[in-house]
Amino acid sequence: MAIQKSSTKTALDLGNFESVVDKKLNSIFQRVTKNRTTIDKSISYALSNPGKRIRPTLVFLVGDFLGIETSRLESIAGAIELIHTYSLVHDDLPCMDDDDLRRGKPTLHKKFNESTAVLAGDALQTLAFNLILDDKNLNISEKHDLLSDLAKRIGPEGMVLGQNLDIEYEKKNPSFDEIMEMNRLKTGLLIEFSILSPFYLKGDLTKDWYQLAKNIGISFQLIDDMLDLSETTEKIGKTAKKDLKNNKKTIPICFGIDKTIIEVDKFKESTMEICEKLCLNNHPLSAFIDSLFSRKF
Ligand code: IPE
Ligand code: IPE
Ligand code: MG
Ligand code: MG
Ligand code: MG
Repeated sequence: MAIQKSSTKTALDLGNFESVVDKKLNSIFQRVTKNRTTIDKSISYALSNPGKRIRPTLVFLVGDFLGIETSRLESIAGAIELIHTYSLVHDDLPCMDDDDLRRGKPTLHKKFNESTAVLAGDALQTLAFNLILDDKNLNISEKHDLLSDLAKRIGPEGMVLGQNLDIEYEKKNPSFDEIMEMNRLKTGLLIEFSILSPFYLKGDLTKDWYQLAKNIGISFQLIDDMLDLSETTEKIGKTAKKDLKNNKKTIPICFGIDKTIIEVDKFKESTMEICEKLCLNNHPLSAFIDSLFSRKF
């Protein structure tokens, strides 16, 4: 994801932004993982795999737009990536999507074993909550607001429910709206949090920001579902056409790629209009958001 080299408010180094985000995350992850036990090692394995780090990048870019020091964004960005990684480890389990490949490498339960993967996912989740709780750069009220919102988004009315519906729908015929709602729950809510969470520290959260976050979150899953059908295993780092094999009810599988492209284009248009309205166009956040709509892996 190329990031436009225009200036940022807090002087983030945009020349090599992606490696800056990666370095920040890796140092956080090194601090929270001990590498002593098998669980530690499995967690390090999951975290060291080359993910796109889209969620933490959004946290840093939105935070920069709002003029928040990067030191106050680090635990939020790290926690979101820890939660995301936990969700992938569990998503790949044989009782869920049963996948052997993740980010071009064996999935955690393949490299280690199933019980380790279940426990590593549990541990990643608790590490995420502790990371924010232990952050000396955030005050108690900020921590409370962040963690309360995060917990709702990933719990039994959020991501967990979305994942549950995803599995149940393998044996059902959900409507367009039901699939879209599942997409928002399983994927959208955490991506939305990556965009909205910096506002707990600073800034005026308006309806436009909520809509922007919602558009980006849902489109992210629609694009993932199209890439599953259209790209190679090598390119996406996970087994291609796996959704078909698993009888998944994605929008492109149930309603066609053309219809999905139309939906994504609508979300993109609305999103770029909001970027303009929020005066994001001179900030690299806008270019990054734009790049999310044309990603190929
Ligand atoms: C994959 O997310 C799972 C979905 C929510 C669609 P990403 O595409 O962000 O995965 P990584 O982190 O880059 O591997
Ligand atoms: C994953 O959706 C959503 C979560 C992990 C919460 P997918 O099942 O489509 O993700 P991939 O394709 O395995 O990355
Ligand atoms: Mg899944
Ligand atoms: Mg999956
Ligand atoms: Mg997928």
